[in-house]
Amino acid sequence: MKADLVIKNGWVVTPQDTFRGGVAIAQEKFVAIGTDDSLPDGKEVIDAKGRHILPGLIDAHVHFRDPGMTYKEDFSTGSTAAVCGGITTVVDMPNVIPPTADAEQVGVKQRLAEEKSLVDFGVLGVVVQTNADHILPMAQAGVIGYKIFFGETIGNLPFPDDGMCIEAFSNITKSKLPLGIHAENRQIQHYWTNKLKAEGKNDPVSWEQSRPYLCEAESVAHALFFAEALGTKLHIFHMSTKQAAQMVKDAKARGLRVTAETGPHYLLREPNDMAKVGSLLKMNPPVRTKDHAEVLWDGLIKGYVDMIATDHSPHTLEEKGSDINGKLLKPAIWDCISGFCGVETGVPLILTEVNKGRMSLNQYVKVACENPARVWQIYPRKGAIRLGSDGDITIVDMDKEATIDAAKLHSKNKPTPWNGWKVKGVPVCTIVRGHVQMRDGEPVGKPIGRMQKPILDS
Ligand code: DOR
Ligand code: ZN
Repeated sequence: MKADLVIKNGWVVTPQDTFRGGVAIAQEKFVAIGTDDSLPDGKEVIDAKGRHILPGLIDAHVHFRDPGMTYKEDFSTGSTAAVCGGITTVVDMPNVIPPTADAEQVGVKQRLAEEKSLVDFGVLGVVVQTNADHILPMAQAGVIGYKIFFGETIGNLPFPDDGMCIEAFSNITKSKLPLGIHAENRQIQHYWTNKLKAEGKNDPVSWEQSRPYLCEAESVAHALFFAEALGTKLHIFHMSTKQAAQMVKDAKARGLRVTAETGPHYLLREPNDMAKVGSLLKMNPPVRTKDHAEVLWDGLIKGYVDMIATDHSPHTLEEKGSDINGKLLKPAIWDCISGFCGVETGVPLILTEVNKGRMSLNQYVKVACENPARVWQIYPRKGAIRLGSDGDITIVDMDKEATIDAAKLHSKNKPTPWNGWKVKGVPVCTIVRGHVQMRDGEPVGKPIGRMQKPILDS
């Protein structure tokens, strides 16, 4: 019997191994993995031409803005940017309008994303002060996990107070799903923002000081305390500091089920870069000095930082208060919105670091495929080249050089702090469950994306 799609003549990369050959996919699943001569015939055959065949890459932190903020991005444009960036599965954030805070809104997001998405996706439910009773129904409706915005950010969602946190964390524990947190302490961010404003420090490089490392670290400590007491699986989104990384490392050593994500901007940028690109690099939490990045890299390699995700968070340039090159158009950094595009640039940026020897391609597959799938409990359906797993593949050309061009991004709005960055290592083909969704940088697929429900034992 012929497979639907055979990809051959490449190097198959897993976290453990790299071997010559390819894969075969039938009915959306891997049916053969091995040397070229061991693969069945295919109705369609892709010659990888000696390039690397990776498990489909996962970006477990995107804001596709659907519903309610589709003037910034929507599931169609966001997922187009994703496949062009080599991504096959995303986890979408709940700070939309209305927020994804009950089972009904989970259904709303599932329906509109399944109409529009080129990639598979997980949906998160947000937990605020008032929706404790909606936590378990959201699990029934298929969320992959939950999010609490301890820090104030886009959407200005209220966070549960410490009393409600006991109920929230307990209910989340019952759901067996992870709780991801935006870890920033609001008192610290408010105090320092007001102080800097009063001192007239309005320039972009002041941004980091308004949310100093303790702002993140205190919030991580707080949530770890509740998670340990109440047995909750805790995940730290967009971790930016060495102090938080150390806490996660210690908590893992104590046997807690705590995981962490960081992003390309925390690994490769620093506050002084905001003198050059201004508000285009404004993000919550802010980028930090190199000593933090060193620890985050160490964590990715040693395993106490679990994954890289981009926090793709588009806004209009008008909201950013910037032109596409980073010229500030507003008088103060405080008036510019936080967040920028990432889903299309994250893979080439990190592949460039792989080429420089910062990590191996096998380690990259671990932190960009296997670990995100494990944390969000969709492994081994996702995140693995394994017989029976979903036939998701990203083919990358490790020798191809390119320059990131903001104007060419596929997002609806294109603010990026990476414009003009030279990269070596580029995704050239993105395959979601056997469907070719991108070739040579161009979207070629249809909206076949499906919501990913977690695989729960018992
Ligand atoms: O800077 C940010 N922007 N940080 C977040 O946590 C949210 C994001 C957004 O939604 O734009
Ligand atoms: Zn985010």
